[in-house]
Amino acid sequence: MVANPARISDPERLCNAVFGKTVLVTGASYGIGEATARKLAAAGATVLIVARSTERLEDIEASINAGGGQSIAYSVDLTDEAAVAVLTKQITEDHGPLDIVVSNAGTSLRRSLHQQYDRPHDFQRTIDINYLGPIWLLLGLLPAMRENGRGHIVNISSVGVRVAPGPQWGAYQASKGAFDRWLRSVAPEVHGDGVDVTTVYFALVRTRMIEPTPVLGRLPGLSPDEAADAIAKALIDRPRTNEPPWLRPAELASVLLAGPAERAARWWHRLLFTESASSGTDRR
Ligand SMILES: NC(=O)c1ccc[n+]([C@@H]2O[C@H](COP(=O)([O-])OP(=O)(O)OC[C@H]3O[C@@H](n4cnc5c(N)ncnc54)[C@H](OP(=O)(O)O)[C@@H]3O)[C@@H](O)[C@H]2O)c1
Repeated sequence: MVANPARISDPERLCNAVFGKTVLVTGASYGIGEATARKLAAAGATVLIVARSTERLEDIEASINAGGGQSIAYSVDLTDEAAVAVLTKQITEDHGPLDIVVSNAGTSLRRSLHQQYDRPHDFQRTIDINYLGPIWLLLGLLPAMRENGRGHIVNISSVGVRVAPGPQWGAYQASKGAFDRWLRSVAPEVHGDGVDVTTVYFALVRTRMIEPTPVLGRLPGLSPDEAADAIAKALIDRPRTNEPPWLRPAELASVLLAGPAERAARWWHRLLFTESASSGTDRR
C-alpha cells in the first residue's frame, strides 16, 4: 500500500536481523507496539516491553513466553522522569547495552484551539509523552549502547511532522515534530559510535489511537501487524527513514507551495473536521 511506509513480511530475514538481540519496545501494551513486540519475539529477539498498563503488559509477556518467545515486562509511565531514570538503570544492569530500541509510545490529540484556552495540560501531556519521555529514555540507554559501539534506535513518527501542519492537530504534531527534530539532530553524533537511527513515518494505522476520529476509519490504513512489518523493514535494512513514497514530494510541495498548502489545510478542516470538535486516546 503506497499510502504508508514499505513493509517486509519475511520471517527469515527478520530472524537474521534480530535473533538473539535484546530489543526494547515502548508502548507495547496496545496497537503498533504490541504487534511489533510479538513479531520480534517470534523472530528470536528478547523483547523488553514497556508501557503503563501493568496487567495488559503482563498478559502479553505471558503469552509471548508461553509461545516459546522471550519477553520481560517493565511497567512505567514514561512521562515520569525519575521513574524512567530508575528503569534505564535497571534495564542496563539486567541486560547490558541494548541492541535495538523501538521508541513507539505516544498519545494523539485533536482539539480545536477555541477549546484549548483553558486546557494548558493538553500541551503538557503531549509534549511529556511524545517528546520528553522518549528523550529521557534514550538519555539513560544510549551511553551503554554508544560505549558498546553498536545499536539501532527506531522512532515511530507521523507523516504529519513532515508536511504542512493540519488544523486541530497542533499539540500532537508539535510534540511529535519536536522529538523527530531532536533525534535527527543527535543522529550524526550517535552514528559516529555505531548507533544507527531510523524514523518510520506512518500515515494511518488502525489502532485505538484513531478511534475518536471516525473519519480516519474511512481512509486507507494499515493493521497493527502490517505496521509491525514496516518496522521490520526498518530493522532489516536500517535506512535513515522508512516513509510512504509520496511523503518527500509532499514535503517539498509544502515548502514550494506554502500558500496553496495552507488553503488546502483550510479546505481539509472544513470538509473533514465538522463531525466532532475533539478527539484523542486520552480525554483528560
Ligand atoms: N495509529 C496511527 O494512525 C499512527 C500514525 C502515525 C504515527 N503513530 C504513532 O505510533 C505510535 C503508536 O501508536 P498506536 O497507534 O499504536 O497507539 P495506541 O494503540 O494508543 O498505543 C500507544 C501506546 O503508547 C503507550 N503509552 C502512552 N502513554 C504512555 C506513557 N505515559 N508511558 C508509557 N507508555 C505510554 C500506551 O500504553 P499504556 O496506555 O499502557 O501506557 C500504548 O501501548 C505513537 O507514537 C503514534 O504517534 C500512529
